[in-house]
Amino acid sequence: MNELAKNLNADLLNHNPHVYYLLSDLGKQLYYPKGILSQSAEASKKATRFNATIGIATENNVPMHFDHIQKTLPGYHPEEVYPYAPPPGKMELRKEWGKKLLKDNPSLHDKNFGIPITTNALTHGLSIAADLFVNEKDPIILPDKYWGNYQSIFHVRCGGVLKTFELFDQDGKFNVPAFRTCLLEQKQTGKAIVLLNFPNNPTGYTPYEEEVQGILSAILEAAEAGINVVVILDDAYFGLFYDDCVKESLFGKLAGFHPRVLPVKIDGATKENYVWGLRVGFLSFASESKEILDALEQKTKGLIRGTISSSSHLSQTIIMHSLQSSEFEDEKQKKYGLMKKRAMKVKEIVSLDQYKEVWSYYPFNSGYFMCLRLLQVDAEKLRVHLLDEYGIGVVAINSTDLRIAFSCVEEEDLEELFELIYRGIKDLVEKEV
Ligand SMILES: Cc1ncc(COP(=O)(O)O)c(C=O)c1O
Repeated sequence: MNELAKNLNADLLNHNPHVYYLLSDLGKQLYYPKGILSQSAEASKKATRFNATIGIATENNVPMHFDHIQKTLPGYHPEEVYPYAPPPGKMELRKEWGKKLLKDNPSLHDKNFGIPITTNALTHGLSIAADLFVNEKDPIILPDKYWGNYQSIFHVRCGGVLKTFELFDQDGKFNVPAFRTCLLEQKQTGKAIVLLNFPNNPTGYTPYEEEVQGILSAILEAAEAGINVVVILDDAYFGLFYDDCVKESLFGKLAGFHPRVLPVKIDGATKENYVWGLRVGFLSFASESKEILDALEQKTKGLIRGTISSSSHLSQTIIMHSLQSSEFEDEKQKKYGLMKKRAMKVKEIVSLDQYKEVWSYYPFNSGYFMCLRLLQVDAEKLRVHLLDEYGIGVVAINSTDLRIAFSCVEEEDLEELFELIYRGIKDLVEKEV
């Protein structure tokens, strides 16, 4: 093992061995090399005469570039666009996102967390977490309604096994006892990887305060039973909360919660700020110990350097300016208003008496989606029928559940959408009779 990795592991063992034991084999091997980038970072501070370190080109003291590209980017200085961004992201952007986390999550105020590390959006952040913590056959504890790509990220790539518990209990609340049982089953191995996503994809559910207290007490019980728990919080749809569900990430509550609990927050501008293709996300660790935060950051940087090297500089610059813009809050609020109105309208429509015989729906109060539970027809058959006969695209999650992204349907079109889904169901029922 490389000496730098050994030193980082020693730091983890000295300052909180539970965090060390949570790491995967790959996680233990990782370190950030003192290679070209470190030397170049040093040179950028001290090499005042010539800086001939890094693999870009310069001309007239600015990064060399094509005028025909620069002409399309009049608002941006070449320096903010063309050079590589550092592997963990532009520091100014990272700090800006850190400020946002504090503002959005009051529970974080007296807690210790690392400066968010920039990722190439959330999928990348999740894959970093998988690489850091998941070994072959490690169970990943998550609700049975989850984003399908978790299979590729945690199972196909890293060999983890998705171990699901029922998201909802009989009353349509987060099923704390099922979660608790699943978690405590890890007592033998002493390691649990928990993956929680609120607002949830596909259901659009975020728990209420009482359920959150239940989740926290299950995690505390597991930690007190000697289980080291890494809690990966996929906050992709953060902020889109439409009722009195909790409005902050569990990250704030889990920071400084117990030495055996390591919270990892994965979030980003993708969905929150409607910039899906810009690919800017963040990964943040919380720990009481500065040394732990530093060692985890070094390992994460090593991983980024060895995979994508760094994320798009232009995208980071755009997001940074957006966060600093005086128009940000106002526009964000307006878009939130639009999304909330659509969610409320959907709730009104899907609850109508006339639809009760064909579907029920899972509780939803946040995010981009809601999920119908079909009572009479197969979801995949309906999906295909809706596409072929009505030109309507929806997602079949399994044989009963149909996910509808109301995020991309105008409010005035929602009634028609659900009426056509209803008609599609009726067509299939009649065909079968
Ligand atoms: C729950 C959840 N997490 C993460 C992602 C991925 O986000 P990104 O586009 O930032 O990689 C998605 C995208 O659909 C998602 O639904």
